[in-house]
Amino acid sequence: MGYNVAIDGPAGAGKSTVAKRVAKELGYVYVDTGAMYRALAVFFLKQGLKPEDTEKIAEVCKNAEVSIGYENGVQQVYLNGENVTGQLREEAVGNMASVSSAIGAVRAQLLELQRELARTKDVVMDGRDIGTNILPNADVKVYLTASVETRAKRRYLELQEKGVACDLQEIAHDIEERDTRDMNREIAPLKQAEDAVYLDSSAMTIDEVVDAIKALCK
Ligand code: DC
Repeated sequence: MGYNVAIDGPAGAGKSTVAKRVAKELGYVYVDTGAMYRALAVFFLKQGLKPEDTEKIAEVCKNAEVSIGYENGVQQVYLNGENVTGQLREEAVGNMASVSSAIGAVRAQLLELQRELARTKDVVMDGRDIGTNILPNADVKVYLTASVETRAKRRYLELQEKGVACDLQEIAHDIEERDTRDMNREIAPLKQAEDAVYLDSSAMTIDEVVDAIKALCK
């Protein structure tokens, strides 16, 4: 059994930035489970499906094989053998992933892959249900969150930096909608595990969050 650090929390709380840093500094493998849901979303979109085609999504998801590998320490996601890492951050993919990840068959498809990685490697794994469902016996569990305003502002600055026109109110609204969906779905909803350490990063720097999590590790 590897040493397992589980980081859950809502979109935009800084999980991936922090998890990547913690993994690098501790010499562990970073596993981004959101990217796996996004890879399945790429598959559904390639099949011409829409987020509302729930039954069809549940039916075809068994034809999608997701696997991960690492290039220069950076996680790569493969969909039926094709590297789809470059497609994962598209808006349509995020929207599809947000809806399709609520479907039981979709979650079941990724469960074993995630558990197997944690069984064989020391990992920092981030997602929504890692501490509650995937790795209930994780050595360290963190619930990382931040206020909606903070998360919206961070996303706004990120998009502005990329030269993408955006509206702060709209971003905040999208974040709230995504939170509602993630927290209220029937299967494996986002919630803090009883034994998870709660961290609100609203008034913390990345360094402070990284140090706080490293201090919890062996
Ligand atoms: O963290 P992210 O935005 O890349 O995740 C994409 C979607 O996948 C997000 O809407 C929530 C979902 N997800 C999930 O349901 N469970 C996980 N362990 C990780 C992500």
